[in-house]
Amino acid sequence: MRIIQCLSKNEAISITASLILEKVKALTNPVIGLATGKTMVPVYLELAKVASEHKTSFDHSFFFMLDEYLTLPENHPSSFRSYINKYVIRPLGINQNQIAFPPVEINEGGEIYERLLKDKGGVDLQLLGIGTNGHVGFNEPGSSIQSRTRVIKLTTETLKANSDQFTDIIPSKALSMGIGTILEAKNLLMLATGITKAEVIKYLLNHHDDPSCPATFLKNHPHFTLILDPEAASKINLNI
Ligand code: GLP
Repeated sequence: MRIIQCLSKNEAISITASLILEKVKALTNPVIGLATGKTMVPVYLELAKVASEHKTSFDHSFFFMLDEYLTLPENHPSSFRSYINKYVIRPLGINQNQIAFPPVEINEGGEIYERLLKDKGGVDLQLLGIGTNGHVGFNEPGSSIQSRTRVIKLTTETLKANSDQFTDIIPSKALSMGIGTILEAKNLLMLATGITKAEVIKYLLNHHDDPSCPATFLKNHPHFTLILDPEAASKINLNI
């Protein structure tokens, strides 16, 4: 695992955005895995800004969304699709046929998504946040290292943490890439910012293969980069 401990939140955001752009520029047909959450909003704003300054083209890129809530109508303002439309698709000028979302409306959505991931040759760079309980995507505590894209029942902690994104009732289930699926991406890029993530980051760095904190499984990946702002890193002791 490579840890990048930043001097400010802005630096953490700017490094994350530049690593995504680097990958897009380096590959002929980059496949990028996207994540949502409050953490990623400034990353996508920065990405759009820098991409427009550098006239970066995303025409040959393909994107996979990490997860999506079940039971929300497609155009629901709190769906991850709406989030990605707002922060990624429109600002970067991406076509709807360049992105795939977990097919939440069908029963075999998990298997179908796994097949699509394989057809596209897998994900080159998977962007990830982390939940305060160590979830990744929506792989809640108890998820296994072999888990694949599947329906997951969300924990009370996650429902509470994400409820501010809903004016109505938050769905209790989601379809998420599994830990095993995420581990197949060629590169993992996790960003954690803010004091609310300090405790889980400390736990992540001190534990291995711990199902009570699914993020610990990612440490098995040979190309896992963790970017931290000073608050998220405030409970760890690294001599960097
Ligand atoms: C959500 C998403 C995750 C995200 C996490 C943290 O539940 N499914 O992909 O990493 O929450 O979100 P935030 O950045 O808002 O703390």
